[in-house]
Amino acid sequence: MKIMIVGGGGREHAIAWAVAKSPKCDKLYAAPGNAGIAEVAECVDISVMDADSLVSFAKEKDVDFVIVAPDDPLAAGVADAFLDAGIKTFGPRKNAAIIEASKAFSKDLMKKYDIPSAAYETFSDADEAIKYLETLEAPYVLKADGLALGKGVLICQTLEEAKDGIKEIMIDKKFGDAGNKVVIEEFMTGREVSVLCFSDGKTILPMTSAQDHKRAGDGDTGLNTGGMGTFSPSPFYTDEVKEFCEKNVYQRTIDAMAAEGREFKGVLFCGLMLTPKGPRVLEFNARFGDPEAQVVIPRLKNDIVEVMEACADGTLDKIDLQFEDNAAVCVMLASDGYPVSYKKGFEIKGLDNFKDKDDYYVFHSGTKFDEDGKIVTNGGRVLGVVALGNDLLEARKNAYQATELIDFDNKYMRHDIGKAIDEQ
Ligand code: AMP
Ligand code: GLY
Repeated sequence: MKIMIVGGGGREHAIAWAVAKSPKCDKLYAAPGNAGIAEVAECVDISVMDADSLVSFAKEKDVDFVIVAPDDPLAAGVADAFLDAGIKTFGPRKNAAIIEASKAFSKDLMKKYDIPSAAYETFSDADEAIKYLETLEAPYVLKADGLALGKGVLICQTLEEAKDGIKEIMIDKKFGDAGNKVVIEEFMTGREVSVLCFSDGKTILPMTSAQDHKRAGDGDTGLNTGGMGTFSPSPFYTDEVKEFCEKNVYQRTIDAMAAEGREFKGVLFCGLMLTPKGPRVLEFNARFGDPEAQVVIPRLKNDIVEVMEACADGTLDKIDLQFEDNAAVCVMLASDGYPVSYKKGFEIKGLDNFKDKDDYYVFHSGTKFDEDGKIVTNGGRVLGVVALGNDLLEARKNAYQATELIDFDNKYMRHDIGKAIDEQ
């Protein structure tokens, strides 16, 4: 089978790595891919948003199956473009990807179908939003409605800060059109857990749990990022939490989407907060998480292509989804200064140390080949160093040891990925 992956980050490298191992995969393309993905796929320089060129390329090469991995193209209807051209595709259509692309939509869906989440109000007028804020108590949670690279959520400790936040989002348009509407949400406390689920529109199969570290600095300080590291499984995702979510969240959400005429096929990412009142949904995403994929996929026992095809074909009920009884930790190596400003183009040394290893991997996020064919840094998040272990402690030790095998000029990482493991 000829397979094509749309995307070029660490998540796509983890997917490409697993797809390339499948006996079903004879040829793999990636658009645009990156220097790591190039080890397992032929990379083609087409933007993830250029639906016409992507579809033409897939037709020209007789691609049998396409995987659309990132949020922006899914929200823009790139999966629809492939499906409408008669090409089997993994990833939700635009009308279902809205569960991530509009926070107002997902909050309304949860309210209508009684899916547990924080109380909220939505506003498209800044003055109205500010008037409402004045009736609430701190802290305030503001969310830009649309996609904002994971940065559209502000937690404000004072009313002044919250009013400034409304101005930034709705008037200054810090996140562009994503800020046309704003959701103001009840502040919740608790541990966060991510559960990614495969769905074919009817059947939903939750994967093993994971936890992300979104802040840039140690001790959860600094700005929100795309994710500085992950571990899987989460020791806080107990059987009790799992049962609650199976009863009240996963199937109910997929059924709600179907009832709304928005059949969801692909990965539904459920961001949960384990509050004192029970689990609550923080957000839904319409895709694998990055860097959640980097710790979940290496633990998957199934052939990923079979599972993804079953999502597209509507036959997920035939799949027995299995994960290894082990653990994985991913430490992101970033460019110092991320997520604000940073230099790139530095040579990366030590990548050969990861060749043909079974228990540790390096998934490329922002890398490219320079004119001399050397691999250089090309983004804020550069590499995800992933290690497996019999348990989380071992996986974390292995992952941090493996980070020492890599060097580049402005290498930056958090030193406390998985610290919560010590508190269990
Ligand atoms: P989201 O993109 O909606 O997951 O929000 C990003 C981060 O903001 C989450 O991972 C939480 O840490 C925090 N957050 C979001 N919503 C709330 C809430 N209602 N109460 C407390 N923290 C929140
Ligand atoms: N790591 C969080 C996300 O992919 O949205």
